[in-house]
Amino acid sequence: MTNLQIFLDIATEAALAAGAVLQGYLGKVEDKTTEKRPGDLVTVADKASEAVVLETLRRHFPEHAILAEEEGLLGNQNQEFLWAIDPLDGTTNFAHQYPFFSVSIGLLINGVPQVGVIYDPSHDELYRAAQDLGATCNRSNIKVSQTSELSKSLLVTGFAYDRRETEDNNYTEFCHLTHLTQGVRRGGSAAIDLAHVACGRLDGYWERGLSPWDITAGIIILREAGGKVTAYDGTDFNMESGRILATNGYIHQTLSSELGKAHDVWKVEKKG
Ligand code: IPD
Ligand code: CA
Ligand code: CA
Repeated sequence: MTNLQIFLDIATEAALAAGAVLQGYLGKVEDKTTEKRPGDLVTVADKASEAVVLETLRRHFPEHAILAEEEGLLGNQNQEFLWAIDPLDGTTNFAHQYPFFSVSIGLLINGVPQVGVIYDPSHDELYRAAQDLGATCNRSNIKVSQTSELSKSLLVTGFAYDRRETEDNNYTEFCHLTHLTQGVRRGGSAAIDLAHVACGRLDGYWERGLSPWDITAGIIILREAGGKVTAYDGTDFNMESGRILATNGYIHQTLSSELGKAHDVWKVEKKG
């Protein structure tokens, strides 16, 4: 068994256990929810789920570094192996008992996403991938869609928690793309959004203001399913930027160019 397979199996064990923890808290966190800032919730479930993931990873890989949303960086960020964990991606949905949230566990090896597991406990869907080992949902191979025209595509995006404070809040892009496509969804879990592009339910996704724990797992799952991940302008993806354009590959260039046009409109409106 390759190391990647071992990493994948342990991450799966952690994601399933954490998913069970989340299900146990569903509907029971109303009085135990706090706001990190307006609209950015954290519940006891986030912390309990993260504790399970941390315990599992540390038991098997004590020498690896971990970047966990609630605990922060544990170990050295420049370590060869860095796990990026979102113990509850879709906290707002979870707090409202809207069944669209996930556990996301990704492994960066020398800064490159190489292993990813996303578990959606509401639908019991487990997405997994590792570099060159393919991508699966519930152990069946998955592939991106073949939609090649933007006018026939269904997209998804999201709006970061700083949307109240920044004018660059993705609203212009959302309106622009809503007119050009069959629709733009706002799922509320970046990890599931990427997984749904990977399995062909959706054709493309873009978002700004993201952190490594939101997207590391989803990036490798999408790439292994045949999809493409870049910066908005089609250049190499850069984790630091917090911006991602992720598609089935066929609509990539057109979506990139329309995002550019939307941004130009936004700049003009801002000046006026
Ligand atoms: C959020 C979700 C959401 C995205 C936000 C993320 P959280 O993560 O992924 O879809 O639009 O930008 O912060 O706070 O639920 O873990
Ligand atoms: Ca998240
Ligand atoms: Ca989270």
